[in-house]
Amino acid sequence: MPYPELKDRVVLITGGASGLGLAAGEGFAREGAAVVLADLRADVAAAEAARLGARHLGLGGDVADEADVQLLVSTTLAQFGRLDVLINSAGIPDSFQPTVDQDAADFRRLVDVHLGGTYMMCKAAAPHMLRQGRGAMINLSSIAGVLGLARRNAYSAAKAGIGMMTRTLGCEWASQGVRVNAIAPGYMLTPFMQRLVDEGKLDADQVRRRTPAGRLGSARHIADAMLFLASDGAEFITGATLPVDGGYMAWGAVGDAYDGPLD
Ligand SMILES: NC(=O)c1ccc[n+]([C@@H]2O[C@H](COP(=O)([O-])OP(=O)(O)OC[C@H]3O[C@@H](n4cnc5c(N)ncnc54)[C@H](O)[C@@H]3O)[C@@H](O)[C@H]2O)c1
Repeated sequence: MPYPELKDRVVLITGGASGLGLAAGEGFAREGAAVVLADLRADVAAAEAARLGARHLGLGGDVADEADVQLLVSTTLAQFGRLDVLINSAGIPDSFQPTVDQDAADFRRLVDVHLGGTYMMCKAAAPHMLRQGRGAMINLSSIAGVLGLARRNAYSAAKAGIGMMTRTLGCEWASQGVRVNAIAPGYMLTPFMQRLVDEGKLDADQVRRRTPAGRLGSARHIADAMLFLASDGAEFITGATLPVDGGYMAWGAVGDAYDGPLD
């Protein structure tokens, strides 16, 4: 889907070395935008940015560290002179422990990375977008931020927090041209999700049965939604959390949502 207005816009993507963030980078690069892939894994971010093309940049940084966050934004501005789109896709999975066995340090790290990281990145990017009078931020929530999933306390609480923070920031900056939206992916087959399947924490066939579309999503589905939310076609959309989940959250009946063949 072509979005000519995205050409030459500058897009900073956290978690950009893998999965949904990387797919977003590929999508925005295809539209002619300049892409900065930021990730804990600096070497992978740099290699993937080089693969996208010479004008793109890969940076290392931890979104839970305020100094790193400032550096990611200031380096982007030093290199490109502006910042038009921020995508907060950095994330780590839960430990899936029963609550009584959960480690409080794990809880804090998950909340720090997902909710704290999203907060600090939005806060650091906002002054520049507000000065420009235009900007789009896209945060990653989850079905876990809306539905109750046992043994997923930290992740779910952080994702619910991201949904609410998306609303509050969207309201705060709406009249100044800066839009803040979130996407709530269902089960998308990325390295993050593959790890959960491989570790026996998720049964992929059970997920397919519970999903009205009868399959897991791909990173490309999320990237397509991000392109739309960043485009001028979404200019009156802010504070929203868009489910991209093959109908997972719409399903309310007892039993399976899909009884066709599994791919
Ligand atoms: N894949 C899914 O089905 C799914 C579903 C719902 C929500 N999400 C959310 O989407 C986001 C991306 O998930 P994904 O599937 O692409 O995961 P992924 O593991 O493929 O990629 C996440 C990236 O974030 C990076 N990262 C982790 N901690 C970081 C930190 N502190 N600072 C900077 N970078 C860090 C990792 O190195 C990795 O490259 C996450 O927030 C995840 O919770 C994913």
